[in-house]
Parts: sequence; C-alpha cells; structure tokens
Amino acid sequence: MIDLHSHILPELDDGSRSLGESLEMAQVAVQSGVAAMVATPHCMDDRTRDVRWAVLLLRDALEEAGIPLRLYMGMEIFGTSETAHLLQDRKLFTLNNSRYPLIEFSFRSSGREETRILESVIRAGYRPLVAHPERYGYLQEDLGLINEWKRMGCLFQINKGSLTGRFGAAPRRLGMDLVERGFATVVASDSHSPTVRTPWMKDVQNLLYRQVSPAAAEYLLLHNPRSIIKNENIPPAEPEWF
Ligand SMILES: [Fe+2]
Repeated sequence: MIDLHSHILPELDDGSRSLGESLEMAQVAVQSGVAAMVATPHCMDDRTRDVRWAVLLLRDALEEAGIPLRLYMGMEIFGTSETAHLLQDRKLFTLNNSRYPLIEFSFRSSGREETRILESVIRAGYRPLVAHPERYGYLQEDLGLINEWKRMGCLFQINKGSLTGRFGAAPRRLGMDLVERGFATVVASDSHSPTVRTPWMKDVQNLLYRQVSPAAAEYLLLHNPRSIIKNENIPPAEPEWF
C-alpha cells in the first residue's frame, strides 16, 4: 500500500512528537503492509524548509533503523485564497512534487468559499486532492456540492478512521457512500501517532476488500496513490452521482 496522508514528521504539527515516535509510526505502517508514505504536515504558508529538512532527517533515520519505508515529501495544505499563488511560487509542496496538492478546509463553513479556493487552484494548473471530504458537515448536508467539486475535477481522499467509524456515524456513512459510488480516489491513514490515529492500514484494507471489493481495495490503496506520486494522469471519474 501507499499512504498519501500522514503526520509522521516529528515536531512540525499535532502529529509525531519526536523522531522516536516517527520511527514507531513507520514500523507500524510497514508491519501493516505499507511500502511508501507521503509526509503531509499541516501547512498554510511557507514551511518548505522545515518540511524538507524533516523529511531528509527521517529518511536517514529510517535507513539507519532498517525500516523499509519509502518516504516522500508533501503537505496537508489548509486551503485559503492564497493557496494557488503559494503553490505557483513553490512555497507549498504538492504530493511528491506532482500536479496533486492535498488540501484540507475548516470543519465549520458553508462550502462556498472552499469552492472558490478549489477553482483557483485548478485554474493555476493543479488537480486538488481534497482531504477527508466525508468529515465536513457542509458536504454531509449538501451532496450536490460533492457533485460540483467532482465535476470541477477534484479528487477525494477518504480517511481510514472515517470508514472504520472512529469519527462517528455521519463521516462513516458519507465515506462509504463516496467509496461505493466511485467518488473516492484514495484512502489514507491521516495518522498522527503510533498509538492513536495510527498508520496501521490493514484493518481498512480488509474492510474495503470484504465490504466493497478486492479491486476497490487495490484501486484506492495502491493504484491511485501510485499514479499520484508518479504524477500520472487520473482519468475523470464517472461516479454514481448524488
Ligand atoms: Fe491530516
């Protein structure tokens, strides 16, 4: 598996609190079948230097510890009206320097401002991968907006914790709907620690395998994440529209 969303870098955000904890997270990921991971600390303005150094440091530590996890550079970008410019100025990282930025939004909003932000990012030549859309109340309540974002060309990353029920009934329902209707592009861990919100992906792999299909598990956990980090084209989705 390839995990495109993780807070594995030490001391940069609310994720890993030390290099030791980052190595533990890497070990958990590898043991659950993850071969590669993109480090995606929360960012909204220029933190490229901090992120780059932290990735280099952790890569070295992984090699020294003999943990076979490939680590790529990325960010979980908090979307604002500045995001498109900052991406073009290389002040924000996409996922492994691809055309795909991982973008999150506030949990409390109407979704209208977010639509404008996504439009500006697309106009700038990027293809946004929206982080955990199933967790936003305004999308749970306005499925038409999901259609709209999909038609614009957005991709959707679903959290494993949403599908396993960690965030409650509404994210679980919408998360499963997005998977079953073909809206989901990627399922990722959004891991924050080795013990709580972990990078263990086996459970969600099994869940997708059994409750959806083996092909869906492969598509969401390996095929699409690989296309994204290789910056390959992802064809427009033809979901079962809401
Ligand atoms: Fe996250």
